[in-house]
Amino acid sequence: MSTSAPSHNQLDSKAEAWSALFSEPMSDLVKRYTSSVFFDKRMWQADIQGSLAHAEMLSAQKIIAAEDFAAIQKGMAQITSEIEAGTFDWKLDLEDVHLNIEARLTSLVGDAGKRLHTGRSRNDQVATDVRLWLRGEIDLIEGLLKELQRSLVEVAEKNVDVILPGFTHLQVAQPVSFAHHLLAYVEMFKRDAERMLDVRKRVNVLPLGSAALAGTTYPLDRERVAKTLGMEGVSQNSLDGVSDRDFAIEFTAAASLCMVHVSRLSEELIIWMSQNFGFIKIADRFTTGSSIMPQKKNPDVPELARGKTGRVVGHLMGLITLMKGQPLAYNKDNQEDKEPLFDTVDTLKDTLRIFAEMIGGQINPATGKKEGGITVNAENMRAAALKGYATATDLADYLVKKGLPFRDAHETVAHAVKLATLKGVDLTELPLAELQAFNPNIEADVFEALSLEGSLNARNTLGGTAPAQVRIQLAKHHARLA
Ligand code: ARG
Repeated sequence: MSTSAPSHNQLDSKAEAWSALFSEPMSDLVKRYTSSVFFDKRMWQADIQGSLAHAEMLSAQKIIAAEDFAAIQKGMAQITSEIEAGTFDWKLDLEDVHLNIEARLTSLVGDAGKRLHTGRSRNDQVATDVRLWLRGEIDLIEGLLKELQRSLVEVAEKNVDVILPGFTHLQVAQPVSFAHHLLAYVEMFKRDAERMLDVRKRVNVLPLGSAALAGTTYPLDRERVAKTLGMEGVSQNSLDGVSDRDFAIEFTAAASLCMVHVSRLSEELIIWMSQNFGFIKIADRFTTGSSIMPQKKNPDVPELARGKTGRVVGHLMGLITLMKGQPLAYNKDNQEDKEPLFDTVDTLKDTLRIFAEMIGGQINPATGKKEGGITVNAENMRAAALKGYATATDLADYLVKKGLPFRDAHETVAHAVKLATLKGVDLTELPLAELQAFNPNIEADVFEALSLEGSLNARNTLGGTAPAQVRIQLAKHHARLA
């Protein structure tokens, strides 16, 4: 028990009690339990950036002297180089990134360092740091989402006339262009990017100036700090500013949706790669062998991505549950926002990067061309599209054009498919006379309508799979992503 009044800087170490108010220091277990420095130190750049903007404003408002601001700038430059060089001594005793940096600043520049925290609390400081850090990550994610879309568009451009069976219920439904199939994912990732940019607007708001919870007695110029930090607005209620983490929850929800889209694509890649489909191959560097079965090449990367989707959705559950029922204003619960948020960002970024490369390939510096993306087996896709009566709907549509009501046409075709199934042949392999027995209006041009190309070309409406439509979409995406 310490009885003498501490004379040195309290932030040097919490090996002693927090302040004169406390009769004993924290136990080691509690220190480890409550500290966050070993994960929140990754926000150090945001922390320094926020502190410099705050100090600049304090000096402009004459709350601290210009010399103090200059000293703070100098100290922060030194701290930056120490952290970058890996020589900065992160201390568990100092709990978090904020106290670690502030203590080092004070040891470097003395009283100016102690003045930095004027009109500020760690509560508005941490809310600011998380927002600044997340804003930067959202920008990186947006770029990666574009890259993935580009990869998909590049592969699509080469495969407009490649036909595969489209499925519903994973049963052969109607033939589609492989490019059309890939562009479905481009649409999903485009929406994911839009969602990220929308979340960014609400992330990019400044809570600094809320202080601990009620605002501050100093004449802060919060708009000035927001401008310095490139933030689009200033939080309008101090209690809300320090406490809500809805922006992190929203981000994790957007990330979860994006991972759900990745998981759908993963599942298709896995199916397409299986020997029973043989539609595509992915480059060896994205697959692994088996320790026992020498013939195996396993799609570990898409499988892991499918699995990691659970992890990101789990983080969403963690964050949203963390916020539930918290009274105003700041509560330490919120320190638990960081690990799920960080892991969501890491998982999403790695996944997007690896998918862009696995699908579209990598630039070979020697040729300047992309290599090593997925390989498409057009013959196997076509053979699969020819199985399962994928053009049965086209026969029904043909009969409708001959005047039959659609429901009757549907029934007529069901009989034709039944006969073809019995004979073990495709509809196009039934002789014209046998088809005419189902409906006398059927003529020789039916075979064109029943061909895979005929089926695709017939779906020539906006958003349809006709190659002409797919080319229009490709041109739009190409221009958008240029
Ligand atoms: N490390 C803390 C966090 O992540 C910083 C805020 C601490 N504030 C407090 N009043 N204990 O939330």
